[in-house]
Amino acid sequence: MIHYRARKDNQMTKPVHRENRKSKIILSLLRWYRKHGRELPWRNEKDPYRILVSEVMLQQTQVARVQAKYPEFLKKYPTFKKLASAGTSDVVRAWRGMGYNNRAIRLHALSQKVVREHGAKLPHRIEDLRKLPGIGRYTAHAIACFAFGQRVPVVDINVFRVMGRLYPVNNKETLHTPHIVWELASAHLPRSNAHDWNQAMMDLGSTICTAARPRCGSCPLKRYCPSAHAAPQKLLRRSRIEPGRNGIPNRIYRGKAIEVLRDLKAGASMNSASLARKVVTDFTPRDRPWFRSLLQSLERDGMVRLRGKTRISLSD
Ligand code: ADE
Repeated sequence: MIHYRARKDNQMTKPVHRENRKSKIILSLLRWYRKHGRELPWRNEKDPYRILVSEVMLQQTQVARVQAKYPEFLKKYPTFKKLASAGTSDVVRAWRGMGYNNRAIRLHALSQKVVREHGAKLPHRIEDLRKLPGIGRYTAHAIACFAFGQRVPVVDINVFRVMGRLYPVNNKETLHTPHIVWELASAHLPRSNAHDWNQAMMDLGSTICTAARPRCGSCPLKRYCPSAHAAPQKLLRRSRIEPGRNGIPNRIYRGKAIEVLRDLKAGASMNSASLARKVVTDFTPRDRPWFRSLLQSLERDGMVRLRGKTRISLSD
């Protein structure tokens, strides 16, 4: 079946058959990865716990920052059991610098569930992994592939973009539904070595096939990519209006509040009015209800403990 005819500017001269093109994509990317893949500490890991920690950290934090934090966190909490038996506030403290502290709470809860229900070992099946706190489709697949060697696709935002460019619809990279991209990713898995293939796709997306300025000239897939050298399409993200105050999202204030509370001695609490003044430099009495609900949202997420109307501390 003829898949598409190459455009003048991307070097293909003959129609390419779909299977042939796919195998060339697979081989070219794996070859590129062997030479240019990033050396990242979790790539040589075999221990599922350590791979899980890296994936949770990488969910919302950049690789460079995770690289710095990862060894320190693992030194403090080297196993599920050690993490499960720690206090929540200590785990949140150890998460310092990573942002999105909810992840620390969920990882802690996950370790307790794994110890309690799975004999301190991660389950292998994707359905079971997805029942654990903080594990969505992406992370469950990443663990199944990277920790347990399963031949499954792993689709993060980078892979989504790379597939969108290799298989654009009406010249747009953004029209695919997640379902289609997962299907495409699945169809491209090599027979063996899904691990390297998935890691390679992520590396390609984060170093070459970037959102704003793809470096098509250095791309190992440029001969097979109908989007090569085309102006990058703006990602059609649905804009999500974040709740906040004076244009600053609540998530920033939440992070600041946790930073301040982390500096208290273990078990100590502080007055919520003083906390408000540290977190919000231009705090006024009119901000009180908003700040109260911010603290309540942190409490609902298990990060802080409100003691009466005025005292607050990190959760124990
Ligand atoms: N982002 C998410 N998982 C990753 C991984 N294993 N390597 C590099 N970047 C990632």
